[in-house]
Amino acid sequence: MDRIVVRGGRRLSGVIPISGAKNAALPLMAAALLTEGPLVLTNAPDLADIATMAALLRTLGLTVEHDKAARRITLRGSARDVTAPYDIVRKMRASILVLGPLVARHGRARVSLPGGCAIGTRPVDLHLKGLEALGATIALDGGYIEAAAPKGLTGARIVFPKVSVGATENLLMAATLARGRTELVNAAREPEIGDLAECLNEMGARIGGIGTDRLVIEGVDSLGPAEHPIIPDRIEAGTYACAVAITGGEAVLKGARMADLGAVPRTLREAGVELSELRDGVRVRRPNGLIGTDVMTEPFPGFATDMQAQFMALMCVAEGASMITETIFENRFMHVPELMRMGARINYHGASAIVRGVPKLSGAPVMATDLRASVSLILAALAAEGQTTVSRVYHLDRGYEAIERKLAAVGADIERLRD
Ligand code: UD1
Repeated sequence: MDRIVVRGGRRLSGVIPISGAKNAALPLMAAALLTEGPLVLTNAPDLADIATMAALLRTLGLTVEHDKAARRITLRGSARDVTAPYDIVRKMRASILVLGPLVARHGRARVSLPGGCAIGTRPVDLHLKGLEALGATIALDGGYIEAAAPKGLTGARIVFPKVSVGATENLLMAATLARGRTELVNAAREPEIGDLAECLNEMGARIGGIGTDRLVIEGVDSLGPAEHPIIPDRIEAGTYACAVAITGGEAVLKGARMADLGAVPRTLREAGVELSELRDGVRVRRPNGLIGTDVMTEPFPGFATDMQAQFMALMCVAEGASMITETIFENRFMHVPELMRMGARINYHGASAIVRGVPKLSGAPVMATDLRASVSLILAALAAEGQTTVSRVYHLDRGYEAIERKLAAVGADIERLRD
């Protein structure tokens, strides 16, 4: 397994290009199941999760071409099989996103239940209840969700008891081909959902209320081809903002959009980081010391749970204390013991952690159990004295394109050791 070695203490400066968003690309790829295509996605990132979704769609019978040099994914054809096998779904929970499109277009789907994951139990009940409201029957058999709607889906009013990104996306896609009108109330408002809705409309769907928590979908008979640019990755942008800030540097995040970052800019400013919007990006600078700042994760436009670990790394070297509360996932502090191995002072109980800033972290061998936890260790390593080796790099490769190259290009001392 590859490892990443970082020797800390270098100030980052220069330009960091932001890739297309992983969490937008995955549902957009699943949306290809709703049409004969072709669906052409541009600004596509080159990531392990993208390869996994491509493999899943090929298993279902689609043709998927990923031209990495051109950053373009072309998807065409229709599903010949409706089974998403356990072997792929267990690798990537977002595989569940094929469920809605398959039932909507083919009247049937068999998708392995994702099971647990490193950051919590993460049920899919909202996806299933929503599909039932649209008229599908749902059964569980041998670890698989069996969904059927032989006569097609019918529009309905669905009120989500809890905000869910994935359930909103699954039902949004399913509703495009349902008979009549569907209303999704208390829908998630993450920018990736807006991106999906825009693309579906380009394919011929009739979705209103984009960007709000109430999406209204008038079903259509079929969807056609489209070409759509994937939005820039707000989490990657936020992560690099923290990387620049933790080293006291200055850089431009090329392509990043401030509005997509939700509460992250406000929180970073409170912590002593300067951010300004440019025509094609965001400038980040940290001129003085970092200030301990409290944060609570929330659905968009609140502070993203996917930024919690990175912000915690930053707070490890801030002046004063910071209380970090995780409200989205129940088990998302696995980076804490690893950060403590690097000299961080953190106490946590339940959903909250108190971070007491220290003047310096020190390099250590560390490992992580999920994507954002791994990257928080890279951030800590950039500011630490001495050398840090991060193992289990495959977590990083799921969601950060060429991270060591992007960081080295702005002055970090970082390299990948291949096994
Ligand atoms: C998506 C993102 C992930 C991010 C998360 C929250 C993708 C591919 N992944 O994950 O990076 O961390 O949003 O912003 O876009 N829940 C239920 N029942 C359900 C579905 C969800 O109880 O049927 C709960 C979850 O356990 C969690 C909360 O709702 O506590 C939010 O989860 P959700 O928004 O669905 O996350 P994902 O779509 O899986």
